[in-house]
Amino acid sequence: MNIIIGSDHGGYRLKSFLVHALTLKGYDVTDLGTDSSDHPVDYPDFAAAVARAVAADPAALGIVLCGTGIGASIAANKVRGIRCALVHDCYTARMAREHNNANVLALGGRTTAEEIALECTMTWLNATYQGGRHQPRIDKITALESEAPRKD
Ligand code: RB5
Repeated sequence: MNIIIGSDHGGYRLKSFLVHALTLKGYDVTDLGTDSSDHPVDYPDFAAAVARAVAADPAALGIVLCGTGIGASIAANKVRGIRCALVHDCYTARMAREHNNANVLALGGRTTAEEIALECTMTWLNATYQGGRHQPRIDKITALESEAPRKD
C-alpha cells in the first residue's frame, strides 16, 4: 500500500519518525515534504499536496501533520473525496477507519508523542471500514462537496 505523507515545519520531526517506522514495516511511503523543522512553511500547501495525491489514487492513503494537526486536517478536508480525521488516541484512530472511512489521517507534531502517533497510525491502517449503516452517512458527507460555498 502506498502511504503519502506531508507536513509543515511543526510536523516535520514526527513525520520523519513515521516515514522511518512505516518504511521499516514494509510500507511504500511517499514523502511530499517539508524537509526541515527550521524553515517555516504553510501547512495548507503540504496538506493539499497529500490530499490531492490521495484523491487521485484510490489505492493510496495519506497522513498529514502540522503542529497540532488542526490546520492540516482542515486543509485536507477541502479537497474533494478526502475524509481526513485528526486523532489523538487509538480509539479515535480505529473509529476514523471503521465508521468514517477516513482516507487521510492527521496528527499533531507538537501534541502527540512518537510512539502514540505510530500506534494510532498502525491502528488506523489495520482497521477496516464497516460499511453498512455508515455508508449513507459517508454519502451525505460526499454530497456536501457539491454545495455552493458560503459568501463572506
Ligand atoms: C505553525 O506554527 C502552526 O500554526 C501549524 O503547524 C499548525 O499547528 C496549524 O494548525
